[in-house]
Amino acid sequence: MRLTCLVLVALVCVIVVESGKQPHIVLILAEDLGWNDVGWHNADIKMPILNQLAADGVIFNQSYVQPACTPSRAALLTGYYPFKIQRQHQMLLNLEADGLSLDLKTLPEMLKDVGYLTHLVGKWHLGFCKEEYLPNKRGFDSFYGWLTLGTTLYSKENIIAPGYDFRDNTGVVQESDTYLPFMLAERAVDIVMGHYKEYPLFLEFSMALSGKFLEVPQEYEDLYSDIEDDRQRKFYGKLSVMDNSIGLLVDALKTRGMWEDTLFIFTSDNGALASESGSNWPLRGNIATLFEGATRVPTFFHGSMLKNTGYVNNELMHIVDLHKTIIELAGAKTECDIDGMDLWKTISKGKPSPRTEFVYNIDDNELSPGAAIRVGDYKLITGHPDLLYPFRMLNRSDDWYNYGDEPISGIPIPPTGNEPPPSNVTYLFNIIDDPEERNNLAEEYPNKVEELRHRLDEYREHLVPPVNRVFDPAGDPVNFGGVWSPGWC
Ligand SMILES: *[C@@H]1O[C@H](CO)[C@@H](O)[C@H](O)[C@H]1NC(C)=O
Ligand SMILES: *[C@@H]1O[C@H](CO)[C@@H](O)[C@H](O)[C@H]1NC(C)=O
Ligand SMILES: *[C@@H]1O[C@H](CO)[C@@H](O)[C@H](O)[C@H]1NC(C)=O
Repeated sequence: MRLTCLVLVALVCVIVVESGKQPHIVLILAEDLGWNDVGWHNADIKMPILNQLAADGVIFNQSYVQPACTPSRAALLTGYYPFKIQRQHQMLLNLEADGLSLDLKTLPEMLKDVGYLTHLVGKWHLGFCKEEYLPNKRGFDSFYGWLTLGTTLYSKENIIAPGYDFRDNTGVVQESDTYLPFMLAERAVDIVMGHYKEYPLFLEFSMALSGKFLEVPQEYEDLYSDIEDDRQRKFYGKLSVMDNSIGLLVDALKTRGMWEDTLFIFTSDNGALASESGSNWPLRGNIATLFEGATRVPTFFHGSMLKNTGYVNNELMHIVDLHKTIIELAGAKTECDIDGMDLWKTISKGKPSPRTEFVYNIDDNELSPGAAIRVGDYKLITGHPDLLYPFRMLNRSDDWYNYGDEPISGIPIPPTGNEPPPSNVTYLFNIIDDPEERNNLAEEYPNKVEELRHRLDEYREHLVPPVNRVFDPAGDPVNFGGVWSPGWC
């Protein structure tokens, strides 16, 4: 099967490179950005550049991702639902001796096959315990960012355990004074300014917004001096830093005469770590749950190749579709049975989406089995909606949270053995009538529950259990000069 794919890509490559119509593709993957964290949903946030790009493009109002960072990034890079590629269970933790399966060909690898130059600026988080897992070995011509789940924004220390984490390609960059988002913006601009224009560009800019560490330069915090809540004021400031960074990048693309040929995509890898540093309001739930707040994210497309713009599109989209759509647009055709669908006609012309259902996740692990599916207007959640159990990273997860609410814990608390048993829920929601998941219809519509449960079971036949999580102390940065590094698995 995989062989067939490779052969097809090679054949298509020749045709596409000759046709020379491949757009530059700039994908902004904002980290932990919730529904309420963008200017077009929340007028208090100052993001003039993104607001304008969204208004001039197409906003996707039902755009879904996975509930957590590693699974979303795996889905984007491969086009598969994470439950088929062993990435359904939480995110990768620092000492986990694992990474995105090396059998899988990635999006940037496929784009390289058809002539793209590929760059990742920002977060990786798909494994680093051996060199083969690193972004430079998974299809990116260049990488400038961090390998673990997140770093502090000045000192570049991992946010949950000691150890430095910042690299330029494979080399460590010691830079503890400069604000990380500024460094990333500068690199993104440099990539554009130095780009060979005869080649199409793929730039994934994985914006640093991660929860918990609310570091922001004073002048950005001052934009919101009227806001009393400390977390809210600082987080809004970070969002304005993001907006400013995107402005610099767009200016560079214009300066180089590349903007007219650029498809600009903006989305998030999962919902916010509410209410610590973001908000999914009015959607339900926190990051890393099966609720809408974790999975339905702000998304828009912008570019001269879109035929119908300046409106909000309510068609369904899932992050696996982003994979397939980008591949098709770039001219790389594959026959692989990925889950992603080509949504280009929906994005560019507003045609009905071929996607009518999707799987939020299926995780049949013993401690917190949980699964959810959307079919048409309905959504079924079964089992335990919180992915992080029994790692209680979140002391609150299934309510509705907004800025200023009581803080949650953003640091994983290892299981103590005294955890309450996970809940076993059956929720049925009509997401169109009830996007906030307030009315559980499970008792009222038992047939609908059975229909969706049956569909979920059909998908479950393709489930590949995750590899057992092995936490290997050999990965401790004390063994690598204080830096999170490959070479221990
Ligand atoms: C959740 O954790 C935060 C931070 O540790 C703490 O301030 C808050 O009181 C906790 N909330 C609950 C409901 O336990
Ligand atoms: C959870 O509930 C479902 C449906 O009520 C039931 O079939 C299943 O056995 C329950 N699972 C557990 C672990 O209690
Ligand atoms: C976007 O979705 C929300 C939630 O379902 C809905 O309330 C809103 O009307 C939609 N926006 C537009 C412009 O259709």
